[in-house]
Amino acid sequence: MSKSLVSISDFNKEEILKIMELAAHFESNPGEQLLHGRVFATLFFEPSTRTRLSFESAINRLGGRVIGFSEAGNTSVSKGESLHDTVKMVSNYCDLIVMRHYIEGAARYASEVASVPVVNAGDGSNQHPSQTLLDLYSIKKTQGRLDGIHIVMVGDLKYGRTVHSLLQALSHFGARFTFVSPEELKLPDEYKIFLRDHGMKFTETTDMREAIKDADILYMTRVQRERFSDLMEYERVKSAYVLKADMLRGTRDNLRILHPLPRITEIDTDVDADPKAYYFEQARNGVFTRQAIISYLLGVK
Ligand code: CP
Repeated sequence: MSKSLVSISDFNKEEILKIMELAAHFESNPGEQLLHGRVFATLFFEPSTRTRLSFESAINRLGGRVIGFSEAGNTSVSKGESLHDTVKMVSNYCDLIVMRHYIEGAARYASEVASVPVVNAGDGSNQHPSQTLLDLYSIKKTQGRLDGIHIVMVGDLKYGRTVHSLLQALSHFGARFTFVSPEELKLPDEYKIFLRDHGMKFTETTDMREAIKDADILYMTRVQRERFSDLMEYERVKSAYVLKADMLRGTRDNLRILHPLPRITEIDTDVDADPKAYYFEQARNGVFTRQAIISYLLGVK
């Protein structure tokens, strides 16, 4: 059976390190036509800018071709076709599926139905493993290591799937975590249990200014409006934490600010000019990392 990437736990530490190595290779060697003659499907049941376009850029750079949709309403899903049948059909047309879906577990289900590998491009508030790999690549590039970093995660730690995937991945590398969020958006217990079970140190606080003083990585996140059933609650918490340039005074020289993006209000635009802001380069790293993921899953590199 072909290997899929549905959860970051589908890759062990060696595989994660292999992806880091491959991503560095693709960054230094753009334009290798390793996927010539192969077809890839991008099925996006939820909106995306970076994930879909960077996957498509990665595929194009490697000489592959892309089919798919960014709006399920224009497909036979709108006539009532099931996810099962949609995925089964698309499997007939391609060598690998990249899928984003709003239901947690949809990507796992697709990987069980599909006859080709499936890459989870985000399933509800569950997992976003390709984002995690590009986050790790960005950490490695900026810190020179993955081991033993202090990472401060800020914002929507309840619904933020990138947070959930990243903390699981960093458990391989002995990270120390500080979580900063409003009470309503605290990290769910299942992830705290995971960290305890893996011997990871973490603290929770509401004081972002203090927390970032000895951080290596500040991982900012957007409050996920689309996951709220009560929009009044969203309005109450959406701007709980806003990073401003003056807050970076006294932080470590090696501190880098990551954000999976899109940003709404949680990073003031005055931070963008600070050398510690790394989120746009981080998004660029997504192309090399996704080249690595696809090549690895297909065994072409
Ligand atoms: N980081 C991320 O998943 O961005 P998009 O929603 O634009 O794909």
